[in-house]
Amino acid sequence: GGARRLAGKHILVTAGPTHEPIDPVRYIANRSSGRQGFAIAGALARLGARVTLISGPVTLATPAGVTRIDVETARQMADAVDAALPADAAVMVAAVGDWHAEATAQKRKKGETPPVIELFENPDILALLARGPHRPGLVVGFAAETEQVIEHATAKRTRKGADWIVANDVSGDVMGGEANTVHLVTADGVEHWERLPKAEVARRLAERIADAL
Ligand code: C5P
Repeated sequence: GGARRLAGKHILVTAGPTHEPIDPVRYIANRSSGRQGFAIAGALARLGARVTLISGPVTLATPAGVTRIDVETARQMADAVDAALPADAAVMVAAVGDWHAEATAQKRKKGETPPVIELFENPDILALLARGPHRPGLVVGFAAETEQVIEHATAKRTRKGADWIVANDVSGDVMGGEANTVHLVTADGVEHWERLPKAEVARRLAERIADAL
């Protein structure tokens, strides 16, 4: 296809983990590196899209031509997504923490007994976006699964109101690794992609998004 197929389109990408503080010096996080999301943001920008990349804490360089907004927590990511709308498409790659704690103002002290930390549900950014009033025309989610990958991803597509789910088999060394095995779940069915470098998954997905927009 043409080089600038996404010219004039605004696309939101979320990427990376979230950090959920439990006190001023500690947090709950996950093993997401942000690599797949950053690669997707870069691939979309190379097709000419205006890309807003909302990223949790990662150690990656911002891809060329991408506007990056750094956040720490899921609630900050939700607010940043809202603030970045409207968009023609959204690709939600972030490994958003499912829970947050009530962060204490002072460092938690070691004592007789370890603290019991109560967890509260985080907003589901993808579901809120897909069901919200400013829904982008194309909403793409990711589903990292270690088993029954297709079944879980198919259920997730309907439950969250996404158009596509990129089902990600993370039973191997995907988290932080260079390659990825994904299946694209749409209303029309499931496409199985071979194991590919994350950059190639990104390039193919960007082309598919350009086809759809
Ligand atoms: O429910 P689960 O975490 O497996 O869903 C994964 C998909 O939903 C990903 O696209 C992820 O970015 C998105 N998500 C989100 N907000 C959450 C949880 C997941 O946007 N709180």
